[in-house]
Amino acid sequence: MSKTLIALGVTGGIAAFKSAQLCSDFVKAGFEVQVIMTENATRFVTPLTFRTLSRNPVITSLWELPQWQPEHVALAQSAELFITAPATVNFIAKYANGIADDALSTFAATFNGKSAIAPAMNPNMWNHWTCQENIAKLKAHGITIIGPAAGRVACGAEGVGRMSEVSEIFTTVMDMLKK
Ligand SMILES: Cc1cc2nc3c(=O)[nH]c(=O)nc-3n(C[C@H](O)[C@H](O)[C@H](O)COP(=O)(O)O)c2cc1C
Repeated sequence: MSKTLIALGVTGGIAAFKSAQLCSDFVKAGFEVQVIMTENATRFVTPLTFRTLSRNPVITSLWELPQWQPEHVALAQSAELFITAPATVNFIAKYANGIADDALSTFAATFNGKSAIAPAMNPNMWNHWTCQENIAKLKAHGITIIGPAAGRVACGAEGVGRMSEVSEIFTTVMDMLKK
């Protein structure tokens, strides 16, 4: 029997390193994981880390096609669930507005299945009306928003914006898959 496929989006925030643990936890739980990183995410964690943990090539570009079919279309047809962790304010804006200018946002604009994001950013970014409007739009379209949590973020500011714990993201994804 083939394994359930989870598409794991990783964007360019400090919390990207925590996503390596999430990837590993999905693999240990018996899932097939296809990681899609933004170019900016690769400045924080290398694709090699995710390739090794997921045991799959990592998608970082729209233009490197390992098969005849455009990767974002093939993946959108076979993935059971899409989780983006961390989700930057930039990715959230693109996702909410259908902007498809890299591999991850193009996949997001193609995928119509179960989807969740775990935002992670400075509290001022999180509270900004643009971000809050985009979050409301995603919620209205059935996207699950996990967190963010309150506390001290990497830049030293206090407030809501920390990425939720990996264990919470994992549990939420498992619950979504059961539904
Ligand atoms: C050191 C550093 C940390 C950053 N952390 C975050 C973050 O946690 N959340 C966020 O939304 N943007 C963060 N940014 C800004 C994003 O990297 C930037 O908006 C980028 O365009 C996001 O690209 P992506 O969404 O394509 O990955 C950070 C930038 C730097 C230089």
